[in-house]
Amino acid sequence: MANVAVIGAQWGDEGKGKVVDWLASRAEIVVRFQGGHNAGHTLVVGEQTYKLSLLPSGVVRGKLGIIGNGVVLDPQALLDEIARVTAQGLAVTPENLRIAENVPLILPLHPALDKAREAARGEDRIGTTGRGIGPAYEDKVARRSIRLCDLAEPATLSAKLDELLLHHNSLLRGLGAPEFAKQELLDQLLALAPRLLPFAEAAWERLDAARHSGARVLFEGAQAVMLDVDHGTYPYVTSSNTVAGNAAAGAGIGPDAIGMVLGIAKAYSTRVGAGPFPTELHDEIGRGLGDRGNEYGTVTGRRRRCGWFDACLVRQAVKVGGIQGIALTKLDVLDGLEELKICTGYRIGAETLRRLPAAMGAQAAAQPIYETLEGWSGSTRGARSYAELPAAAVKYVRRIEELVEAPVVLLSTSPERDDTITLRDPFAG
Ligand code: IMP
Repeated sequence: MANVAVIGAQWGDEGKGKVVDWLASRAEIVVRFQGGHNAGHTLVVGEQTYKLSLLPSGVVRGKLGIIGNGVVLDPQALLDEIARVTAQGLAVTPENLRIAENVPLILPLHPALDKAREAARGEDRIGTTGRGIGPAYEDKVARRSIRLCDLAEPATLSAKLDELLLHHNSLLRGLGAPEFAKQELLDQLLALAPRLLPFAEAAWERLDAARHSGARVLFEGAQAVMLDVDHGTYPYVTSSNTVAGNAAAGAGIGPDAIGMVLGIAKAYSTRVGAGPFPTELHDEIGRGLGDRGNEYGTVTGRRRRCGWFDACLVRQAVKVGGIQGIALTKLDVLDGLEELKICTGYRIGAETLRRLPAAMGAQAAAQPIYETLEGWSGSTRGARSYAELPAAAVKYVRRIEELVEAPVVLLSTSPERDDTITLRDPFAG
């Protein structure tokens, strides 16, 4: 099967944008299957820099983009993003963007609840993006979401809003936040309907047709395995399944169609938001990684926490995420460091573990066990073959492969699209 799914193998921001862009240029269809406008990446195409949050990357490359049912869609955020890229000269029409008709919508009450809850948590906050992602997924599993298809049925929409507001206004009142008026929401949604419905369709049918015609499909994940609602550092996670298994359910296609699963991992670790981060560095080395790696959130603008590469954690992501090959990014950020550390396991009290346990207390207590490797004085920046890399850099990559139990199939050595060492074509299966 010549399809590819791309997922993050750490806590997000692994540099998926560049890899996804390269793969999108070789696919015919690009599908987003989870998350929402909490995601963000920057694509540089010629003179233009596109900041995408919801639009599948393929749209920039002239490919068909599909927003799958596994996404939570903020209609206003989508229309704003379309307006932004349109102003940059890109056409986004129902010709090149389709949206699953059963996608749940994010309404203004979702970010309101997200923010009110975070404020109420105080010191214990998750550090969400405040975009309403969690509350929107809660409504989906609670069976009270307004879905895109509901915009075509005003009577259904009206009845569903009653149920939704009964729930949300009670919560908002309890949190001391302003409540929402039904008529205003109904009017807003009905006004948006003619702009959104032309994009709606049974996306699964299009994917089924693609499967039969042999068209190459790229499944574009957002966030990463350690932010997965089941397998991540719960509760400091996002509210969807970010593992490749969800590409099938979140797009509406069988699991055998997913094809090769590529996991993106940074050559060190970063995290935005709160939660356990065993290899976090609070020293000059950590600050140096942040500065050289330009580690600021695309969506939040917040400075990312930085630390050593955690092979124990990436190995876990490989296993639960179904990752068959790794794209290792930002190797050049490590240039010039005298020595490098890789985490191979954790010490928790008297125990030594080769996995991050599930319990919150144990995760917080996990002390990394490090292996120290020699750094390199030469530059890896812009290298396009292994032969151009310093020997110690090759050793570092090889050791990562051994420890995470997956081959490095792509190696990115600068933000430039062509500065990539390709060891295996993911579309070749
Ligand atoms: P939410 O997805 O806004 O609910 O945020 C939950 C957690 O996921 C927070 O720690 C966020 O910082 C994190 N998060 C959400 N989206 C991204 C992303 O695209 N990159 C990195 N972290 C993210």
